[in-house]
Amino acid sequence: RKPLTLHRLREMHAAGEKIAMLTCYDASFARVLDDAGVDCLLVGDSLGMVLQGLGSTVPVTLQDMAYHTACVARGNRSAWVVGDLPFGSYQESKEQALRSATVLMQAGAHMVKLEGGGWTAETVRFLVQRGIPVCGHLGLTPQSVHALGGYRIQGRDEDSAALLKQHARELQDAGASMLVLELLPAALGAEVTAALQIPVIGIGAGVQCSGQVLVLHDMLGLTSGRLPRFVRNFMPDSDSIEAAVRRYVGAVKEQSFPGPEHGY
Ligand code: KIV
Ligand code: NA
Repeated sequence: RKPLTLHRLREMHAAGEKIAMLTCYDASFARVLDDAGVDCLLVGDSLGMVLQGLGSTVPVTLQDMAYHTACVARGNRSAWVVGDLPFGSYQESKEQALRSATVLMQAGAHMVKLEGGGWTAETVRFLVQRGIPVCGHLGLTPQSVHALGGYRIQGRDEDSAALLKQHARELQDAGASMLVLELLPAALGAEVTAALQIPVIGIGAGVQCSGQVLVLHDMLGLTSGRLPRFVRNFMPDSDSIEAAVRRYVGAVKEQSFPGPEHGY
């Protein structure tokens, strides 16, 4: 497979091909996911919970993110690598965001992701003008879990839905080339996706998004405790991890995942 580029992702999106993304934190999984046809590897700050055993993503540091981004980049050959800017690494100023994004890009990321709407548009524009592809992240933004009052579905009332749509347009206008939507009513996920030109990757945001993302350990059944409704474990009926990941990619491409039972 030829390495994915922003240009190729835009072509896929224009052709209506769904984009399959999974989180990935190390070289071994990067190789497996790349071989299994995953389009985008997200080095998510969810590694705080999944790898480090933390209660939230808030304590994850830029050094943590750079280390895991470098690990993923070494194992990957052709997937598009997105690195999460962690909490506190981009909120202070657009200059701070550029310094932090530089660390992740030099560790091997092709794109950085940051959370939030409104104030982030200026930061996104600043990074994009300086040659850094940016992915936005709206809806449930886990770095703000303490401000949001828990991991709750977002955009339920008319006002918050309208604000989210406005933030999505502002991120696109600022030059973001991708947007993650987390934990929204499926109808709102569909509406935002239809209103934007850039690919919208959903997690608990319905099947109408331009692509899907899951936390790797959730879709491999490695996560203990109660899982959110949007998760599907692809390991039962698969005889290897690579087979499970292939089934995930296939299900995203043919839009059999997420099903209505995974949505809100
Ligand atoms: O950190 C992460 O895993 C994420 C995805 C859930 C979108 O940001
Ligand atoms: Na994240």
